Amino acid sequence: MWPNDRFIKMFNIELPIIQAPMAGTALSDMVVAVSQAGGLGSLACGLLSVENARKELETIRRKTSRPINANFFCHQPPQEDHAREINWRRCLDAYYIQLQVDSNISIPNSARAPFDEKMCDLVAEFHPEVVSFHFGLPDKDLLLRIRKTGAKILSTATSVNEARWLEDQGCDAIIAQGFEAGGHRGMFLTEDISTQVGTMALVPQVVDAVKVPVIAAGGIADARGILAAFALGAAAVQIGTAYLQCPEAHISPLHRQALKDTKDNETAITNVFTGRPARAIVNRFMREVGPMSDVAPKFPLAAATLAALRAKSEMAGSTDFTPLWSGQSARLSRELPAADLTKQLAAAALEKLKLLQTIA
Ligand SMILES: Cc1cc2nc3c(=O)[nH]c(=O)nc-3n(C[C@H](O)[C@H](O)[C@H](O)COP(=O)(O)O)c2cc1C
Repeated sequence: MWPNDRFIKMFNIELPIIQAPMAGTALSDMVVAVSQAGGLGSLACGLLSVENARKELETIRRKTSRPINANFFCHQPPQEDHAREINWRRCLDAYYIQLQVDSNISIPNSARAPFDEKMCDLVAEFHPEVVSFHFGLPDKDLLLRIRKTGAKILSTATSVNEARWLEDQGCDAIIAQGFEAGGHRGMFLTEDISTQVGTMALVPQVVDAVKVPVIAAGGIADARGILAAFALGAAAVQIGTAYLQCPEAHISPLHRQALKDTKDNETAITNVFTGRPARAIVNRFMREVGPMSDVAPKFPLAAATLAALRAKSEMAGSTDFTPLWSGQSARLSRELPAADLTKQLAAAALEKLKLLQTIA
């Protein structure tokens, strides 16, 4: 049926569609809906405490016995950098004054923590069939512990070099994330955003470079994108932005509306919201301070520094300081429950494939 069934066979799922892990957004309800529909639902744990990740995993295991993916960040925690902090504060001062937010308020700790022993204990307890990472891989001991649970391991590559590195470390499949993708770039061997590759160019080159199955991600939001990914040699797709319109997505009404309104050329890669490059709908803060800033605190510290400004402006109905994460294909999304979206995307892709085969 599918032109390439390596992924669905290896991961024991019906449909070669992974609902992308989306920190803060994709929780148990979405994971259950997608996995029950035959795709691979992904729980993004990057913003969850261990206690909350446990609750989400308990709910998921209660509601479905289908394979699931648990996803984690694995960044290096940042070093303190007072000079940078002072420069960044200077950037924010005018906004604090304008919004009448006290600039002396203490800055909360960022919720984005890298994968550690405690999260690994959860993996050992709940046995997600797939464990995926963003920003590389955790250290070898943690990786070994995951492997012993029987989970398959995935991570994101944004270049052929990163894909080869991940394969050498033993990844079972590689997510090739093109420049179009929403949210954080998974890049970890370079910080150079100017040389990042689009999905169309990246996927076939990664397919040629590694032996493991390749999952295409970035800008795929309908049947045409899925077929294109298979034509490029991918064995599955990972879709994020299209799932943001589902009722199961935990996003604010302001973010939901912005996704509906945004056009193809209204997103950009920015580091001003978290300290790492990520794609979001362009808003005032990105325009005035970024989109890329040399003084933004290192990941994930920038997020906490904006919390008060963001809260105040959102209360007034404004998204001036809100990270409106989105890929370049938001316009192609449809507002459907996650299970329906998964099934309809797969059915429409197979239908198109049949049509192309008839023509050929
Ligand atoms: C709102 C949002 C949050 C994301 N958070 C994560 C995350 O926590 N972990 C991860 O591996 N990828 C994350 N990503 C990236 C996705 O895994 C994927 O690469 C991307 O969504 C694919 O491009 P698309 O958005 O055009 O479909 C996120 C993407 C979005 C849109």
